[in-house]
Formats: sequence, C-alpha cells, structure tokens
Amino acid sequence: MVKSKVLMVCLGNICRSPLAQGILEDKINKKDLSFIEVDSAGTSSNHVSEHPDRRSIEVAQQNHIDISKQKARQIQIDDLREFNHILVMDQSNYKNVLQLCTDQQQKEKVSLICSYLKTETPTEVPDPYFGQKDGFKHVFDLLNKALDEFIAKELL
Ligand code: 4NP
Repeated sequence: MVKSKVLMVCLGNICRSPLAQGILEDKINKKDLSFIEVDSAGTSSNHVSEHPDRRSIEVAQQNHIDISKQKARQIQIDDLREFNHILVMDQSNYKNVLQLCTDQQQKEKVSLICSYLKTETPTEVPDPYFGQKDGFKHVFDLLNKALDEFIAKELL
C-alpha cells in the first residue's frame, strides 16, 4: 500500500505538534492504518533536541498516549517534498511554512489543522506555552476532534 506521510507543525515542536503526532499515531494503531507515517517539527530552532513540554507529556499520559520519547526538530525544506499532508497549528505557522514552499504543489499540502473541524469553528490551536495546565487539555481535545475528521476526510 502507498504510504501517506503526515507532518504536524507548530512553533517550538514541544507543546502542540508533539501532541498532534502522538494522538494521530494512537488512532493509526487503533484503526490499523499502518500505511500512515507521522512526524512533527517546529518552525523555530529554539527547542531542537528537547523532549516535549512536561504539560504535554502529562495530558497525553492521562489519555494513555506516550509522547515522552519524542525530540524536537526544525522543519526542513525537504519535508515539503517528502510529506503528503502538512498540518499547522496556527496562522503564524501557516505563513512561515508557506514561505518555505518552492511550488504550488507543496503549498497545497499545507493546511490549518482546525480547518478539519466540522462542528466547531476555532481557526487555530492556541499556543498553550505561557498559559495554565487547562490550556493543554483544551489543545488535546481540539486536536483529538480535528484528527478524527482528518482521518475520515483524507485517509480512509
Ligand atoms: P509549541 O509551543 O509551538 O506548541 O511547541 C511553544 C513552545 C515554546 C515557545 C512558544 C510556543 N517559546 O516561546 O519558547
């Protein structure tokens, strides 16, 4: 079967995109969709090689998902060629990733992850880094819903 590669992108690759990666990997395992590969990256290099933020690890753990072994990396030009879907968390990530694209085909791979939400209409996954713990739970719930819709629309 042809592999489909999905890249999750946020700013630091320590809060939102590692959670998005972990949630999608968990759904892939549960739904036996092993032809899908997932990775994540940040637009900035500030946290490269760090493990995810403790609060992201905790909210994932509460949902029986282990993201503790992930390590942050910065998005590379080659990612735009190699991945089939590039899901970004907010408008700033969207703008920064589009600037890395070298052609229209690459631009068409990039979407705001919230654009897959059917019943709710936040356009962005809010950056939880400077906020409280409940912000991470909100991020988890948003990503969880958006990724169910993403799988149904793009991968099934
Ligand atoms: P992320 O969150 O983009 O979801 O990984 C952030 C992590 C770090 C910072 C901002 C957002 N920071 O300013 O260091």
